[in-house]
Amino acid sequence: MKDILQELERRRDEARLGGGQRRIDAQHKRGKLTARERIELLVDEGSFEEFDMFVAHRSTDFGMQDERPYGDGVVTGWGTINGRMVYVFSQDFTVFGGSLSETHAQKICKIMDMAMQNGAPLIGINDSGGARIQEGVASLAGYADVFQRNIMASGVIPQISVIMGPCAGGAVYSPAMTDFIFMVRDTSYMFVTGPDVVKTVTNEVVTAEQLGGAATHTRKSSVADGAFEDDVEALSEIRRLFDFLPMNNRGTVPVRPFFDDPSRIEESLDTLIPDNPNQPYDMKELIVKVADEGDFYEIQKDFAGNIVTGFIRLEGRTVGIVANQPMVLAGCLDIDSSRKAARFVRFCDAFEIPILTFVDVPGFLPGTGQEYGGVIKHGAKLLFAYGEATVPKVTVITRKAYGGAYDVMASKHLRGDFNYAWPTAEIAVMGAKGAVEILYRSELGDPDKIAARTKDYEDRFANPFVAAEKGFIDEVIQPRSTRRRVARAFASLRSKKLSNPWKKHDNIPL
Ligand code: HXC
Repeated sequence: MKDILQELERRRDEARLGGGQRRIDAQHKRGKLTARERIELLVDEGSFEEFDMFVAHRSTDFGMQDERPYGDGVVTGWGTINGRMVYVFSQDFTVFGGSLSETHAQKICKIMDMAMQNGAPLIGINDSGGARIQEGVASLAGYADVFQRNIMASGVIPQISVIMGPCAGGAVYSPAMTDFIFMVRDTSYMFVTGPDVVKTVTNEVVTAEQLGGAATHTRKSSVADGAFEDDVEALSEIRRLFDFLPMNNRGTVPVRPFFDDPSRIEESLDTLIPDNPNQPYDMKELIVKVADEGDFYEIQKDFAGNIVTGFIRLEGRTVGIVANQPMVLAGCLDIDSSRKAARFVRFCDAFEIPILTFVDVPGFLPGTGQEYGGVIKHGAKLLFAYGEATVPKVTVITRKAYGGAYDVMASKHLRGDFNYAWPTAEIAVMGAKGAVEILYRSELGDPDKIAARTKDYEDRFANPFVAAEKGFIDEVIQPRSTRRRVARAFASLRSKKLSNPWKKHDNIPL
């Protein structure tokens, strides 16, 4: 009996060694952790239960029958993060470069199926040379099996991808279909075709980092939602994000202990809005001052800074934040910010996370670049996302809410539950200058007349009271009491029930 137990331990030790010490050392030398080290940091200590540790590939081509390491290049299983269950796969670059074989894919599919059945999120740690070259179409089939499960799981369980090494070719499409992608600076990259193919086809000379590194995907392409310095920081930030997320689409948001008075008054907010309406201020100050303990988890921080998205908690419960940022492009909506916020709103709605919207928007960004790029369709994404969302929606207009952008930003007309405005709010078709120039074109030569007209327009529209008279604004509130107002509003909406008409699915303007 003792021998059998020892044999089990021997086999386990062999499996844990993956592709061997030499390759583990090479992984460390690059500043990367191994697949198992990453899981250890991601889940609670001692909570990881591994599946399929002894699975080996079945390939016999290219001498593969002589090399059949345990695990086949991916570690899979489940554990907990702060006590809540999560399924994890972590590709092992030390085994055939983490490449995906038929059996490697089957291991991933097994835990994806279990995650779905048990209603727990999935975190995939990607570090792979892509399709296992020796296996040909069997490995492509394996990818497609994973893709199909990503699609079925979308909107059912949260799926998070962490890119911690190469991720190239069609392999990028599994992360692309998950809810969030995070990368590690300098050690991870994602592209459909690598620098060599790019050079051959387009004659462009580009490095892997320039083509698909963390900076590219967090700032230019917006494929990734965030980037971190190293594996350790990335994994601890994923734990932080996980704590905000519900387990599945049938559950509710997690409730965490909180120590911050929901009625906390923030007097400094009374002076957040500058006297000059064209002077910017930092919307993040408002977000942080409203949030429990000032804790804000920002999503896509480095992309489309004119809109801010992320998670906070109110009375310990997760709330999604969408906020125009006057510090960038005066907070206007454009293609990038509309796409960014629309995806975020849809994530929140899919997982029953209430949405808090802070509005200071002068309108949509004008220009041929925007029109040719399809701002109509992209702006419609955000409009559509807010309009279809049935989760509790609370909106606070702090300053400008002009034109179509007023409608888009979770207005009363898009089924906003609580629509508040600060006394500094200006709700109108456009700003005073633009309006007067159109309405009184013939008087443009007379500055005094124009000044009087402008003042007239401002007196009438540069306030929240016209909208409040019509009931489009439920209440004009003191900035200092925003946290209390908003927290009470969400508390009153905890049993909100609203559903959309039956349909197979909608046809959001993609
Ligand atoms: C089998 C692979 C492999 C692969 C790497 N290895 N990629 N084995 N299939 N796809 C093995 C190497 O032979 C090597 O084995 C070990 O992994 C480490 O690889 P190195 O090249 O030594 O490492 P490095 O210099 O860091 O380069 C990593 C790399 C490079 C950039 C990922 O290996 C590479 O370019 N690999 C091929 C990538 C690729 O073209 N994949 C197919 C993409 S198409 P030893 O024994 O020496 O340790 C695709 C289609 C998916 O994935 C389609 C889905 C629909």
